[in-house]
Amino acid sequence: MKQVQARKHLKLAVLASGRGSNFLAICQAIRENRLDAEICGVISDQRGARVLDKAEELGIPAIIIEPAMYADKDRYEKAIVDQLQAWQVDLVVLAGYMRLVGPVMLEAYPLKILNIHPALLPSFAGLHAQRQALDYGVKVSGCTVHLVDEGMDTGPIILQAAVPVFAHDDEDSLSARILVQEHQAYCQALQLLAEGRIYVEGRVVHII
Ligand code: GRF
Repeated sequence: MKQVQARKHLKLAVLASGRGSNFLAICQAIRENRLDAEICGVISDQRGARVLDKAEELGIPAIIIEPAMYADKDRYEKAIVDQLQAWQVDLVVLAGYMRLVGPVMLEAYPLKILNIHPALLPSFAGLHAQRQALDYGVKVSGCTVHLVDEGMDTGPIILQAAVPVFAHDDEDSLSARILVQEHQAYCQALQLLAEGRIYVEGRVVHII
């Protein structure tokens, strides 16, 4: 069994492509002393991502690293890793980062990259998870915080939170209900890591 992170005040970086509500939830948890961490910076692959403005408003370094600026994915990820190392981050928090993580990042940060997915994995991996859940007709959905591996939403699961799916739900109403749980679950999972309580054995995560 391997401890994912020794107990410490965590230095985090957030990678995000869009809105940034999970980023804001993490900032709030830090402010309210529910999470022993700091956010060293935000990286977005999308020029104009709303998360960048939110970070700047909070005085958190926010930078754009666009894949189009690099010859290939390895070089793009190398630029991200260089920035993460300059910030000396302990963990990388994917929050609506709409790309598959490749070997360069995974090798630099093994078991140190987290993601949140708006469904109860392994159901409904990939894009439009809430839409997939509604189309399938499930009565319960939710969110999953997991460690990132080379697959699409396949890494070891740290925490999950469930919500009901109602007959009158549409994608927006279900997404909003799940998002409330995402904000809590991500901060809880990060605090468990800050407390050194997360161990992994194969693909099973133990909370000790
Ligand atoms: C969230 O629903 C998250 O689960 C998914 O992308 C969305 C990001 O939302 N991976 P936000 O940018 O954190 O508001």
